[in-house]
Amino acid sequence: MKQQTDARETVRMFDQIARTRRSIRGFLPDPVAAATLEQVFATAAFAPSNCNTQPWQSHVVSGAVRDRLSRIFMDTIGQGKHSLDYPYEARYAGEYRKRQLDVGILLYQALGVARDDKEGKRRAFLRNLEFFDAPHVVFIFMPDWCGIREACDVGMYVQNLMLAMRAHGIASCPQTILGYDADSVRRELDIDATMKLLFGISFGYEDPDLPENQIVPERAELSQLVQFHTG
Ligand SMILES: Cc1cc2nc3c(=O)[nH]c(=O)nc-3n(C[C@H](O)[C@H](O)[C@H](O)COP(=O)(O)O)c2cc1C
Repeated sequence: MKQQTDARETVRMFDQIARTRRSIRGFLPDPVAAATLEQVFATAAFAPSNCNTQPWQSHVVSGAVRDRLSRIFMDTIGQGKHSLDYPYEARYAGEYRKRQLDVGILLYQALGVARDDKEGKRRAFLRNLEFFDAPHVVFIFMPDWCGIREACDVGMYVQNLMLAMRAHGIASCPQTILGYDADSVRRELDIDATMKLLFGISFGYEDPDLPENQIVPERAELSQLVQFHTG
């Protein structure tokens, strides 16, 4: 009986953590304790990987180095100067394009940015480069020999990481745009040229009062995403 209750509680807690993780775009300045940081990154490392290669490499920035990278990004990414290790080639169409547009509308509505408000949209974009005021950013790298399979391993690691953070009450926002100036990140953090940058994740404690943190992007119907084949 006790075992059954424990199992139900485990499911309830896991569902709650996974279903309530959201991309948060406004943070309080309070830093995360060093011991908590170590714990979440240690938990994330329990992710599976092809042949147990564990091809992920995290670089966490806080304090002065975080501020310096934000300033650099404003001058590079903010001005359209890019150095991308993995080009963004996806062209969304059909239902994928609709989902992309829907989440954009949701975010701009929350921010009070009108359709034709170019300045408002630029401000919203630049918030990415301010890390949404998060006190920490983790840059996610993998070695240059990696392909799509290893990138999947890294994705599993990152999801573990964000869920471990969520369990500790730490909010996060994965950001492709933070991978748009890989050369500066490598230079500032003294990272070998053989390590390639996928993206960054701003994280810290959520500012619960911000309207942009209230949005809940829709998920497609289960029947659109999974088919159960039997017999
Ligand atoms: C790899 C990755 C990169 C992303 N890049 C950005 C980004 O550059 N800026 C941003 O505001 N959100 C970014 N997002 C957040 C997505 O918009 C978000 O995950 C999606 O809309 C679903 O919302 P949710 O995370 O709140 O469930 C990214 C998400 C992922 C997984």
